[in-house]
Amino acid sequence: MTFATSRPLEMGRLPGDGARSVYPMQPDTTEWASSHHAHRYLAKQDDLPHRAEGEAVFFECLPAKVGRVLDLGTGDGRLIALVLGVHPDAEAIGVDMSPPMLEAARGRFAGNPGIRIVEHDLNDPLPDLGRFDLIVSSFAIHHLPDERKRSLYAECFDILEPGGVFLNLEHVSSPTERLRDAFLSGLGMTLEEEDKSNILLDTWTQVRWLRDIGFDDADCYWKWREFALFGGVRT
Ligand SMILES: C[S@@+](CC[C@H](N)C(=O)[O-])C[C@H]1O[C@@H](n2cnc3c(N)ncnc32)[C@H](O)[C@@H]1O
Repeated sequence: MTFATSRPLEMGRLPGDGARSVYPMQPDTTEWASSHHAHRYLAKQDDLPHRAEGEAVFFECLPAKVGRVLDLGTGDGRLIALVLGVHPDAEAIGVDMSPPMLEAARGRFAGNPGIRIVEHDLNDPLPDLGRFDLIVSSFAIHHLPDERKRSLYAECFDILEPGGVFLNLEHVSSPTERLRDAFLSGLGMTLEEEDKSNILLDTWTQVRWLRDIGFDDADCYWKWREFALFGGVRT
């Protein structure tokens, strides 16, 4: 397959490297505060193509024992609910900054004292939440600047128990414009309709960061176009 006529997209640079985003829109990080934006996502979250495949591999990567799990950018608590399906006795914390998402997650887990939903902007260092056997995230960390993505991964490493697992089911960038357009077409979307709070970065830069931070088995475990599941283990 040749990409000769498809312009490569810049990727894998940190601010200060002289990188210039080729994604035409500027990120609008206030979007998730909007009830309309949050509920539009929640209404279509099950329809994202191939999501079930990524989540099937997510299940395969879960550790055998999960006492405590942290979900970064939890939304309505989707990943927490998936983990509880396998580890019903796990204690869980979900963090998010969006009022409508916090309300949805708190409503979902009302009456379950083992689940805490914490208001927190992931642009800021994580508050003291204790240590975890599992840290997960889906389709959230790509809303953070690249430099913060990396420092957040390092914070995750620091608060994982030995043997603890980090899993990020993420929206990543495409290596070429043609592949980006094929992804958008798979979603039935145009570039103009893309979420304006996206700050997309390629998978492999992020896997390399995980390795550099000290994660073992850091890899991309599943990928379909701009959806990727990557992570690692703190041994
Ligand atoms: C696409 S939704 C995904 C929600 C959920 N993880 C899921 O898989 O359904 C993105 C989530 O990231 C949250 N988010 C975006 N930027 C954030 C930030 N800076 N701090 C905390 N949460 C953030 C949004 O509020 C939203 O709940």
